[in-house]
Amino acid sequence: MKRTITLSAAALILAACATQPKFDGPTYLNPNAPVEDRVEDALSRMTLEEKVGMTTAQSKFSSRGVPRLGIPEVWHTDGPHGIRPEVLWDEWDQAGWTNDSCTAFPALINLAATWDKEMSLLYGDCIGEEARYRKKDILLGPGVNICRTPLNGRNFEYMGEDPYLAGQMVVPYVKGVQQNGVAACVKHYAVNNQEFQRTQSNSVVDDRTLYEIYLPAFKAAVQEGGAWAIMGSYNLYNGQYNCHNERLLCDILKGEWGFDGVVVSDWGGCRDSEEAVRNGLDIEMGTWTNGLRGAASDSYRNYHMAAPYLEGLNSGKYTTKELDDKVRRILRTIFRTSMRPEPNYGRFVCPEHYQAARDIAAAGVVLLKNEDNVLPLDVPQGGKILLVGENAVKKLVVGGGSSNLKTAYEVNPLEGLQNAYGDNAEVAWVRGYVGDTSTSYNLVDTGQDLTDHRSPKELIAEAVAAAKDADYVIFVGGLNKSANQDNEGTDRYNTFLPYDQQDVIEALAQVADKFIVVNISGSPVSMPWADCADAIVQGWYGGTESGNALADVLTGKVNPSGRLPFTVPYKYEDGPIKTERQYPGIKEEGSKYWQTHYDEGIYVGYRWYDSKGVPAQWPFGYGLSYTSFEYSDAKIDKPAMRKGDKLTLTVDVKNTGSREGAEIVQLYISDPQASIDRPVKELKGFEKVNLKPGEMKKVSFTIDAEDLSWFDADKHEWVAEPGEFKALISSTGSDVRAELPFELK
Ligand code: BGC
Repeated sequence: MKRTITLSAAALILAACATQPKFDGPTYLNPNAPVEDRVEDALSRMTLEEKVGMTTAQSKFSSRGVPRLGIPEVWHTDGPHGIRPEVLWDEWDQAGWTNDSCTAFPALINLAATWDKEMSLLYGDCIGEEARYRKKDILLGPGVNICRTPLNGRNFEYMGEDPYLAGQMVVPYVKGVQQNGVAACVKHYAVNNQEFQRTQSNSVVDDRTLYEIYLPAFKAAVQEGGAWAIMGSYNLYNGQYNCHNERLLCDILKGEWGFDGVVVSDWGGCRDSEEAVRNGLDIEMGTWTNGLRGAASDSYRNYHMAAPYLEGLNSGKYTTKELDDKVRRILRTIFRTSMRPEPNYGRFVCPEHYQAARDIAAAGVVLLKNEDNVLPLDVPQGGKILLVGENAVKKLVVGGGSSNLKTAYEVNPLEGLQNAYGDNAEVAWVRGYVGDTSTSYNLVDTGQDLTDHRSPKELIAEAVAAAKDADYVIFVGGLNKSANQDNEGTDRYNTFLPYDQQDVIEALAQVADKFIVVNISGSPVSMPWADCADAIVQGWYGGTESGNALADVLTGKVNPSGRLPFTVPYKYEDGPIKTERQYPGIKEEGSKYWQTHYDEGIYVGYRWYDSKGVPAQWPFGYGLSYTSFEYSDAKIDKPAMRKGDKLTLTVDVKNTGSREGAEIVQLYISDPQASIDRPVKELKGFEKVNLKPGEMKKVSFTIDAEDLSWFDADKHEWVAEPGEFKALISSTGSDVRAELPFELK
């Protein structure tokens, strides 16, 4: 029967094709012609001026098309957590449209904490649909810069400290976005790991570190995800700005990796016409006329790749070799997006996107501590939950820089718990501390008035009094998106909680019966007060559905399965960055730039803590659960492999608790006998497995020589050295459940 249907469907398609009129317009307009044919045809019809025109911005978020040929403009949008509100033609401020309030998805660090590739695909697909609905062709995200320092203001927009985790998580996101005919523009390429002096800082990093730590996620996005766009970063590498960095763009991205998409500058990141022309920049987007410095009338005509480029072409300084390459890439992007054959509809602010945002946010929540199983909440009928702290009510979607969003709505933690309990319990809130009272960013206003002139003493006294008769006291604090917190353009000062929140936590611990701390942040927060709390939860900027998602975990509707995508240190000084040379960098007299020396090399995050034996407060990969998992029968299919072979590792994971829940099974490889210094272990696999109580599933991983290799900078190649290795199968980051030795022959 099935066969008959298939045959008749095929016959129908053939019949339809036969009757379809022949397309007799130009090839570039033929939706069914191969993309490369369309590109060549369009290119052959363009004037020099039209070609040059395509390489620069024409407004804050659009670059030129070719109106004469009916080739549309390219519309760009932030990214990476939702679709930015429409802005005025040449202003950052929102334009005041009433139909551009998006679904705010969780921050990328929250996505990374899910360790769930399906969630990443869902995220990419949903945000891609929102972008397409809003007629955007290039989504400025995702960001995959490695969390080198916990102080980096943009850690929340990235995917953590591990190149493998970031690489695995970025690929489905890119695919999800692009299946909607929207190009994912992976940013900020590369070695852009701090905001301090971000436009004046030169990253000095050796090749092994570059290839092992800072490039793999970009490479995965390009080669496995098939990313159609890359954004150059503001900083310099090798003494050259990254938006026109010969090595990063020409040699590595377009050379070694074979990237065929478009390189977009960060806004105002292009600094030099000739370098931009010659070193692989394809579209110059900008802030003002000339880099970041002030406006002139019709400033876009003065861009490095606008009038100066045309002059250079006319005077014979440049040939059309580079220009044609740039235009081909831009045309390819257009034929992949706005002029692709498939219909382009998209969806915006729909129940499915809200649900996805909620599921992703909840899946990333990390349970750090749970003494006496104080969580999930078990509130008696008519009982009282007291929330204390600004982040229980503060709207956190607004702010933070270019990822600032205007969202359709935002559920805060107070509302989330009130939604969960309805009339069954009293869910109350008191302030506790005053943090950031700003309520608007680029004219997007939360409508909240958070002004409070009471002293810390008064606020603590109020909280303590209210806590006394509560069944549960939940402190909800952490960071926010104002300057020197999780924020573009500035870094944090230290890893501790700001606004004297520790005082509030310590005071509440004295009186609360069951005391839970929820830390909401996008980067690591040290917790010297950890002993005060019965339970600690790491929440994130969860977007539109943030509060509902948090409530889902606190109430036990969702079992916590998030794992830390970065190491949380006891204190900053424990980490690999010890000198000013390393961070924030040094500026020698007379030198134009800050030099930031990546002296710690490959020892970033857990690679550092492991190798020095320095304990972390919460290690990378850490996270608890409401249920328990037993690992058994860990096996490797053969004791040795040769290059070109694959090894399969399996382990049975059983839910031995009484609740359904997901476990993240982590695979690390250790190379104890290497001829060079190697990390104690490196993440090389992870799988999320959902199990009902009593249920058992087999989890398997496949590894090959690539997973065992390190980058030999002298030979400029990846090397897997024969010898003994160990596969460590681990539940949470430091909880190794099985060690399987094997050999590479
Ligand atoms: C940011 C980018 C962003 C761009 C456009 C820049 O300042 O670094 O991440 O995509 O602005 O808003």
